[in-house]
Amino acid sequence: MTQLDQNPTAPRPDASSSTSADPTVVPRFAQPDPSRPRTRYAVLGTGHRAGMYVSAITGDHADVAELVALCDANPGRMAFYDAEVGAALGLDGPAGLPQYAPADLERMIAEQRVDVVVVTTPDRLHAECVARVQAAGADAVVEKPLTTTAEGCRTIADSVARTGREVVMTFNYRYAPRNSTLREVIASGAIGRPTSVHFEWVLDTVHGADYFRRWHRERENSGSLLIHKSSHHFDLVNWWLDDAPARVFASAGLRFYGAENAAARGLGERPERGTGTSGDPWALDLAADRRLKGLYLDAEHHDGYLRDRDVFSGGITIEDNMSLVVDYRSGVSMTYSLNAHAPWEGYTVSVNGTEGRAELTVVERGAIVLDEEGRGVLDPSATPDASPAAESRPEGERLVVQRHWEAAREVPIPRGIGGHGGGDAILLMDVFRRDLRLEADPLGRAADSIDGVRAVAVGIAANESLRTGQAVLVDDLGLGVDISRRAEPAEPAEPTAPAAASRV
Ligand SMILES: NC(=O)c1ccc[n+]([C@@H]2O[C@H](COP(=O)([O-])OP(=O)(O)OC[C@H]3O[C@@H](n4cnc5c(N)ncnc54)[C@H](O)[C@@H]3O)[C@@H](O)[C@H]2O)c1
Repeated sequence: MTQLDQNPTAPRPDASSSTSADPTVVPRFAQPDPSRPRTRYAVLGTGHRAGMYVSAITGDHADVAELVALCDANPGRMAFYDAEVGAALGLDGPAGLPQYAPADLERMIAEQRVDVVVVTTPDRLHAECVARVQAAGADAVVEKPLTTTAEGCRTIADSVARTGREVVMTFNYRYAPRNSTLREVIASGAIGRPTSVHFEWVLDTVHGADYFRRWHRERENSGSLLIHKSSHHFDLVNWWLDDAPARVFASAGLRFYGAENAAARGLGERPERGTGTSGDPWALDLAADRRLKGLYLDAEHHDGYLRDRDVFSGGITIEDNMSLVVDYRSGVSMTYSLNAHAPWEGYTVSVNGTEGRAELTVVERGAIVLDEEGRGVLDPSATPDASPAAESRPEGERLVVQRHWEAAREVPIPRGIGGHGGGDAILLMDVFRRDLRLEADPLGRAADSIDGVRAVAVGIAANESLRTGQAVLVDDLGLGVDISRRAEPAEPAEPTAPAAASRV
């Protein structure tokens, strides 16, 4: 049995263990030409998320990709991955990958002849990282969000225009089959022309709380959850509707986490950090998980970064309750809300159209139960105490379409593979072997920098709306690109012999 990843942001275990996949959502690829050199990748920012790319490059995609260097401000985290790669390759010790400090990024790209840099640094650094990578002659694969500010959007737009280099945005939620199926339903015309969207996302007291322990808790780093987290959701809406945002009004507040809220609710003195405490469901013990310990606790002495700060301490500058009204260019409007302290996790999105309505309901985690030591159990299905919760709020997904004058019908959702609702593994195929695709993607899931700007535009406008108390026009933000412009779909690869097609 594989050990459960105790990182509160790790994908749900049941989604990760699926191995069968439906051909309607998992693309077909040509076999790579064995004489073709592998693409040379480096990873910039070797924290939690980097792990997915490191495993993909050294595992499923090792026939087309090669990991040639690591770059991070923290040598402890680079050493962690160097050891992981060594173990994955069956070596006796670390892989001995070249490791570079951030100031030496350009030297790394030149010395290691890097073709593509995977950018998994904290959000506020993405724009600067992409610009430096491109100026040094490499392409960039960037984790969401593309950037946190209008200035960051302009930096990336200028860099792409100046260098002609590529930015691949990794919007994994698009690849989750339930989200792909909603796009198909809307595109099919089953609900007519969309008129409005109601979108509610709830983060639970494990995953949601975790944003208030880490660098994300400071607005300067993450742009707030309206950018860090909601850019996923706003990208989905842009993509579902094939539209772009025009105007945003936001209302939000920090009403649960943070020192002031805790004091108002009568919470007494609390330790500064979770590690070393017991019996506290709000605390994260880094020592209790091999990965968290290796990546953060054992690496603290290098930079002083604390991954386990108390969610009820001072210094939090992001909100935990957020409500938005967004107008789209086609005339569709959306009501959106995000809550970060819910007892369960998931989302409901309803799309109204001229001929009916589609409703997607997803329960990612129905409840969080506490173990005998008072710690949150990340996989409640593993404990008998969780069964009442499982009955009243079962984990699952349901897409219902109802046309005017007809009964509601449930639309089957095909099976994906891997974490994040079945999206991560399919995304990785598109990142590493896009040029080997045998058919163009009818779902148009691959995303570029314009999609990235379009997704953060709502959060950037929302932040401005929170500052001014007014509705904000996206065109007034000066994002540096025309976000109504659609990218051309990529050409599929020349099919080789049919027997050579693979699904990885
Ligand atoms: N798509 C998803 O589902 C998903 C999930 C998790 C994280 N992410 C994204 O991945 C990115 C990284 O998140 P994380 O959870 O891994 O954070 P993390 O804190 O675990 O890792 C960030 C790493 O960047 C390093 N770093 C800091 N400054 C640097 C610099 N100047 N140059 C190079 N490295 C530097 C840190 O030392 C750390 O190792 C974020 O942008 C986040 O939004 C996406």
